[in-house]
Amino acid sequence: MRKIVLSTDNKNKLREIREILEDIDVKIYGKSDIDGMDFEVIEDGDTLYDNALKKASAMAERVDCAVLADDTGLFVNALAGEPGVHSARYASEHDDKKNREKLLNNLKDKDDRSAYFKTEIILIDEEKNIIPIEGVCPGKISLEEKGENGFGYDSIFIPEGFDKTFAEMSHEEKNEISHRSRALKNLRDKLSKL
Ligand code: IMP
Repeated sequence: MRKIVLSTDNKNKLREIREILEDIDVKIYGKSDIDGMDFEVIEDGDTLYDNALKKASAMAERVDCAVLADDTGLFVNALAGEPGVHSARYASEHDDKKNREKLLNNLKDKDDRSAYFKTEIILIDEEKNIIPIEGVCPGKISLEEKGENGFGYDSIFIPEGFDKTFAEMSHEEKNEISHRSRALKNLRDKLSKL
């Protein structure tokens, strides 16, 4: 069975990827399941791709099996793509509530509220081939926070084709359409052909 180590121990991410890849003959490990992976990577790249590659490469140097890293950002068109690669630290610290408030404030006078989430995944296989995979979820930024579920920018993001935010959706409903699940489904398609 193929073994893939993830750059995270985030339980939600591990569960989601295990669910989506359940039909494929792979075993997914969190970072802390493997010895020697307790290193820090500074995510200072200019793009999601750069950051995901940095995280994946640091792991690939240390193990022989396949590794996988991801990076996600929310891109707002009227703000020239901000917060984008800076989504986690938009309000200069990792505080989801402050990040959302800053974004709503910066969009106060804008008519165009269109935005998209993008997840970049980098898989580095056993032969050290770099395989990039993307998933995008288009939508718009709401006028105010709504909903209690989710995390990050979920309570201010309304996905295209819906009139409620990610935070007003059930976990299953969001996972049907989210950027991350789209990226993971693209990964599943790639893995099943490799
Ligand atoms: P990460 O690359 O998964 O760590 O995500 C970077 C930042 O984007 C996080 O700190 C969150 O604020 C935000 N983010 C990532 N995924 C989501 C999501 O599915 N919903 C809302 N916010 C997200």
